[in-house]
Amino acid sequence: MGALAGKRVLLVIGGGIAAYKSLDLIRRLRERGAAVRCVLTKGAQEFVTPLAAASLAGQRAHTDLFDRADEADIGHIRLARDADAVVVAPATANLMARLAGGHAPDLASTVLLATTLPILIAPAMNVRMWLHPATQRNLAVLQGDGVAVVGPNVGRMAEAETGPGRMAEPEEIADAVEALLARSNGEKPLAGRHLLVTSGPTHEPIDPVRYLANRSSGKQGHAIAAAAAAAGARVTLVSGPVTLADPPGVTVVRIESAREMLAAVEAALPADIAVFAAAVADWRPAAFGGEKIKKGPEGPPPLTLTENPDILATIARRTEGRPPLVVGFAAETTDVIAHARAKIARKGCDLIVANDVSAATGVMGGDRNSVHLIGRDGSLETWPTLAKDEVARRLVARLAELVPSP
Ligand code: CTP
Repeated sequence: MGALAGKRVLLVIGGGIAAYKSLDLIRRLRERGAAVRCVLTKGAQEFVTPLAAASLAGQRAHTDLFDRADEADIGHIRLARDADAVVVAPATANLMARLAGGHAPDLASTVLLATTLPILIAPAMNVRMWLHPATQRNLAVLQGDGVAVVGPNVGRMAEAETGPGRMAEPEEIADAVEALLARSNGEKPLAGRHLLVTSGPTHEPIDPVRYLANRSSGKQGHAIAAAAAAAGARVTLVSGPVTLADPPGVTVVRIESAREMLAAVEAALPADIAVFAAAVADWRPAAFGGEKIKKGPEGPPPLTLTENPDILATIARRTEGRPPLVVGFAAETTDVIAHARAKIARKGCDLIVANDVSAATGVMGGDRNSVHLIGRDGSLETWPTLAKDEVARRLVARLAELVPSP
């Protein structure tokens, strides 16, 4: 039995070259047990035919708002209701704009406006169209309205440009449909569990007005806290100084330095799962005077550093009260996988989420992340570039599978 057995998906195919991949998506969804009904926009029909979609779906495809046979037979309001989820793939810039603005000039957008079902969009468009402020504005509006988003991925596009804009792969979209339906069914895979997460940078004081810090924004760690709370966990978030809002339903403990972070983590134990997403400063100034260091004739003061405690290693190596599932992050700029593998052994954690944080990737402070999941047994999984929120949701779903039963 597939994971989507008994589920009905209404697939809205937009007008883009990625529409050909939507034909494969129909197949993937049906393989997982879903029944698929298709609506094609006029643009979509320039790339794929209603007949191809209907043949793969095993039921007729819909195209026109004012189709007499259709209105008598099923009609746009029933199309908008008779399913468990609506998937828009490819979601073109135009379709996103129509949905964000509430315009309904054709069958696809009328169905999207009329539906109360969960909606997932898989955007696909030219890089510049994706990055245009209007599209990003529409994306934010749609996300605010509760629309789920998968992709776009970074890669080569039809116009030989490279960047974000490629539609997510059919398997990724099918995974996102599963996750969407699980969420809308109110499944709480981490109910009754305590998840502890560290996030953000640490600030290491040089004197009362100066500190050492790093570029971490805390976005990934905070997104994990939010996703874990949404999955039913009791969540303690130990956060360094960030400008982010507290995730809803999460207990936030604010600290500044690595030593404060370690103390807060120890105070928050026991936990079923501990995720160390913070970019902890490895060193702190050795001498912290209570007074501001003044300029003087002797020139700049020497800045001697001393090592901070390794919070992840300290917790992972505890003999008593070690959380059953300990997850580290590895921030690397070169040889990402090799360094992460060494880290898992050195620190004693069960899983490492490795990401490339070299400046060109835009990961530090950005909204997207490309990660590899490395297990203690040497297993390696590479995820496509995803929004940090989506990385968080997937990671939380995985942790729910991996955490030992209480
Ligand atoms: N970490 C920690 N305490 C520290 C340093 C790191 O808990 N003092 C955790 C991070 O939260 C992350 C993991 O260890 O989960 C790896 O962090 P990273 O900065 O990639 O590694 P480092 O141990 O600092 O090693 P290096 O700087 O040599 O890459």
